[in-house]
Amino acid sequence: MDGLKWWQKAVFYQIYPRSFADGNGDGIGDFPGMLEKLDYLRDLGIDAVWLSPHYPSPFLDCGYDVSDYTGVGPEYGTLEDFTHFLMAAHRRDIKVILDLVLNHTSDLHPWFIESRSSLDNPKRDWYIWRDGKAGGPPNNWASIFGGSGWELDPPTGQYYYHAFLKEQPDLNWRNPAVKQAMWDAVRFWLDMGVDGFRLDAIATIYEHPDLPDHTLPPEKLKTTTANGLTKTEYAQLMRYQTHQPGIHELMQELRALIDAYPGDRVLVGEDDNVAYHGNGNNELHIVFNFPLMLTEQLTPDHIRSNQAVRLADLPPGTWPCNTLGNHDTPRVWTRYGDGKNDAALARLHLALLLTLKGTPFLYNGEEIGMTNLMLTSYDQLRDTAAIRRYALMTGPQGLSHEEALLKVLNTTRDRCRSPLQWDASPNAGFSPAGIAPWLPVNPNYAEGVNVAGQSNDPGSLLNFYRQLLGLRRKLPALIAGEYLALNPESEEYFAFLRDDAASGRTYLVALNFSEAPQTAIFDLETHQASLLYSNQPRQDSLLDLEQLELQPFEILIAELDITKKGITSGAGRIKA
Ligand code: NOJ
Repeated sequence: MDGLKWWQKAVFYQIYPRSFADGNGDGIGDFPGMLEKLDYLRDLGIDAVWLSPHYPSPFLDCGYDVSDYTGVGPEYGTLEDFTHFLMAAHRRDIKVILDLVLNHTSDLHPWFIESRSSLDNPKRDWYIWRDGKAGGPPNNWASIFGGSGWELDPPTGQYYYHAFLKEQPDLNWRNPAVKQAMWDAVRFWLDMGVDGFRLDAIATIYEHPDLPDHTLPPEKLKTTTANGLTKTEYAQLMRYQTHQPGIHELMQELRALIDAYPGDRVLVGEDDNVAYHGNGNNELHIVFNFPLMLTEQLTPDHIRSNQAVRLADLPPGTWPCNTLGNHDTPRVWTRYGDGKNDAALARLHLALLLTLKGTPFLYNGEEIGMTNLMLTSYDQLRDTAAIRRYALMTGPQGLSHEEALLKVLNTTRDRCRSPLQWDASPNAGFSPAGIAPWLPVNPNYAEGVNVAGQSNDPGSLLNFYRQLLGLRRKLPALIAGEYLALNPESEEYFAFLRDDAASGRTYLVALNFSEAPQTAIFDLETHQASLLYSNQPRQDSLLDLEQLELQPFEILIAELDITKKGITSGAGRIKA
């Protein structure tokens, strides 16, 4: 445990700045608001925050269209506000990492404005400009947000490439000047003291230089978004637009840059490709285990097979990183709930994240069980990717307004980005009464889904979060221990060991995902364990592992009674 870096021990909490806390009462979250809530975060028990983009942005991709990499969006405050926030977080032992959007800028970034101004502008080559072909775009590449990946710029007659929205032109990372400019921005924040970066969309940084057409049959793209495709089809579609040579070298450069700073700054990869760990010590420190959350239902089977593959795939010396939700995915409560046992399942999901091996990332609002926001009209949409999908559906695809609207309301990323629900007052205490927040507040704030109400309720989800986060800190093997799956045949409960040779402690974790009691029979070198935690009433603190009765939705953590502590480890704990 002592040999671990801070980011291996930390629990991260993702803040979506626009929706977290509105300090100046204009309907938009900001740094003064975040500053005020730092004590809340400290008391919750998290160790680090990841801020989604806080930079100046026309906000066409909710801030992932950056128009100034060394600034603060005026709606979020000033650079001084940012500094106050950073220092105040550090005073509370909370680290802060920023979102780093390398692949593209906003089309209103001065670099792009210059680049598009003429064919011979010195910044022309900072982006991917090409002549069209046969009266159309240079090739058939698609945008990840639907439609063509090319946009014609009539004044200069050329097309520019955009992996995401047309307002997010891709930078040309083969141009060394681009690299220098971006590394300067990275140094700017590191010099200010930020603790690292979450890297946005690194898979799309390079494109195949010869621009070969992809070979996915056009009818497969009828949906016009990549979403409707199978994994193989998507790989075929994106074959020349993602994971191109050069990314490893670029990540190595960035790693060397940040390693030159003191304090173990961290790089977190959005792209879950384990290859971006490099040799284990020269590219990204951690990358999200997205396959864990890419499932309709979090079943013990799914989790076990995910862990088996994931932990085997990680290059030696690297560290896992687990998450279940973020600003791009439906709310965890809604997605993995069954509509009946949602409260119990939400607790299991947190317990899972905090007991699996690896750094957990939580998303703001999960701690009070925020659910998907259901918007009701087109005008309420703020997610431009959804608006673009609507336009493609009602245009080329010929869907009616009603059909298209229903589809986008059911899929828009706005659903998980609504303002944080602080209390039961109007606007959930996010903004003052009478000020319309930038995205509607989920009405269930009035039904107990708010921080103030849950703070006072010992049985609330929020207090469960506090309790479990506190417990994790006290149990070193939950952080450092090796993971060993137990009873792989069990479909109802998920059980495993966290075995920590250094502290000589081995914990058993059993998570019963079922509403029925389960009997677990463990064949371990010891038959006894001492109860450390259960969310259900238990009479005995000494547990019989040859006949362990698990109550419905029980979360149980126990310490194996092993006399030869520290002598055997790993598989030695399991009887042959
Ligand atoms: C991934 C971000 O999480 C998402 O919100 C964004 O739209 C794309 N990258 C493009 O930057």
